[in-house]
This record gives sequence, structure tokens and C-alpha cells, in this order.
Amino acid sequence: MEIMDHAASVAANTKGLMLRVVRKVALAQDIAGFELQAPDASTLPHFSPGAHLEVEVRAGLKRQYSLWAPPDGKTYRIGVLRAPDSRGGSAAMHDQVQVGDTLWCSTPKNHFELEENAAPILLLAAGIGITPILCMADTLHQRNVPFELHYAARSRERMAFAQHLQDAGYAQHTRLYVEGEAQARADLAQVVAAQPPGTHLYVCGPKGFIDVARQAADQAGWDAQRVHFELFGASVDPVALNAGDAFCVELRRSGRVIPIQAGVSIAESLLAAGVEVETSCEQGICGTCITRVLQGEPDHRDAYLTADEKAANDQMLICCSRAKSQRLVLDL
Ligand code: FES
Repeated sequence: MEIMDHAASVAANTKGLMLRVVRKVALAQDIAGFELQAPDASTLPHFSPGAHLEVEVRAGLKRQYSLWAPPDGKTYRIGVLRAPDSRGGSAAMHDQVQVGDTLWCSTPKNHFELEENAAPILLLAAGIGITPILCMADTLHQRNVPFELHYAARSRERMAFAQHLQDAGYAQHTRLYVEGEAQARADLAQVVAAQPPGTHLYVCGPKGFIDVARQAADQAGWDAQRVHFELFGASVDPVALNAGDAFCVELRRSGRVIPIQAGVSIAESLLAAGVEVETSCEQGICGTCITRVLQGEPDHRDAYLTADEKAANDQMLICCSRAKSQRLVLDL
């Protein structure tokens, strides 16, 4: 199929892995699970909980999907939500990619790393946000690290891994919330306030859910360093991200000055000018494109940096953030 042919040519020129789909299952309503292996079943690069793969779902379209099972050396397992407002990524994974197909994937990347020595831990997930959180829960259980897991879904049908969680050895530390049922919503303020001192929070899901969790931690006086989150991109409007006036970017290392047109991101403009920059989500979510700012005032549009980090104005996400000043000087 077309995906395979293109994947083969991309892999020849791009760092990454060619992986075969060895299993495709329905994990829940509108959530498909894919198991990926090397075509010769050789050992795959290791990853840590919270990691994701970048997958080229069709020619020129890459998306990030979290790994939901701890590493076993041979298989990567990802979960894909069919997003109602999909720009083609999740629909292609659901409708076109089948067992036996080969996909170009990045090696695992992790911007949501579980800190090795942090304990106790509070895990919060909503919807498809369970994928990295489940990997964390299974890993913490294996390591005998104390944790609590709270997981919310819109319905039983949309709740992936419910059986896995009920059967897991940590079921007594897990609370499930299903809209319309007796236990409908997590009171995140109460959950956060009940944690022992020094707890680290890991939260993943839609923006609204993450915002409430972060606010709860903030109001409970938690240090921002103990609050770790990963947002899924469906709630981000790419057009709004890049709206704004033109400005200039000066690259300190080469002295080049690159004009950034209205409606075009810094990263796109730099790539068009032949400047190598690394991006992944292109929506201000993953942190891949973080860049030091040496002069000028960024107009932060991302959902990755904390409020304090944004206020410091010494770094920015160049895939989406713009400038309040006429010129930005970047450490590139
Ligand atoms: Fe993901 Fe910029 S590429 S934040």
C-alpha cells in the first residue's frame, strides 16, 4: 500500500526505524492499539515511561503517540484516539494502517519523564491520556514505588484498559471515574490535597483536565517542579497559534537575520531559509523545539513552558510562539 512504499523511501533518508504492525486491536470506542516490531523482530531501542513515538501516518504527516506498555525489548505498543477534529493523522491510523504494514517511526522520545527517585507519586489521566500514565503505573508497580492513579473517561465504552486496571496488582490504589455513573468526576482539588508531602504529580489528558490539575497543585502550594504534564494536541488550533504580525529573528551564531511573515511560524521560516531546527508536534506541546532567547520579548503561545518559565523570557518554543518585539535574537 502507499504508506509502505513511502515509508521505505523515508527510512532510507531519515534517522528512525521501519516498524511492522504486528497487531491492531480496539482498546475502546475510537481508540485503536497498535503493536509494532522490527521486520526481523530484532531488539528495539529502550525507552522510559512517558515516552512517545513519532509516526509517519501518511506521506509528510507525522504524529506522536505515547507508548502504553513498559519496554519488553521487541515490541512498541501505542494507542491512537480517532480525534473528531482530526487533521488526517488519527483517521489514517484507524482506517488505513493494517497488520503487516510498515511505518516509519522515530526512536522513542520522552518529554514526560518519570523521575527515577521521585516518590510518592500521583498519576492523573483523562481519556487517551491514560496511555503514558498506564506505562508509568505498571512500571512503578514493578519497582514497588508507592503511587495512586485516578483515571476519568466519558463512558465505559471509551475507557481503555479498564479490565487491565481492575486486574492489576495496584487495583486498590486506582480510582476510575465515568461520566453518568455514581463516581462521575474526580475532585482533583481534594485528590491533590490528600497526598503526602513531597508527592510528584504526573497528569495527562485534554487541556481542561490538565489545567484543573495544575491549578489544584498550585493552590495546594506544590512546587511547580513536582508537577509534570503532557497535553494531547486535539485542543490546539494551529491557525490561531501562528496568527500575528511579521517580525525578524536574528541567529546569534551566524549573524543571519530571517524575516518571519505573518501567519508563518519561526520554525517554518528557519527551515525554509535552510536553517536546521528540530520539531515534532508543531503545536507547542512537546518541547522539542525549545530555543534560548538572547534578546527581545517572545509572545509565548505554547502549552509546554510553565508561567514562570514564560515570564523569564529566556527560552521559547519556536514552532508556535512569536514575538512582542520587532526582533528576537536566538541562540542558533
Ligand atoms: Fe513540539 Fe515545538 S515542536 S513544542
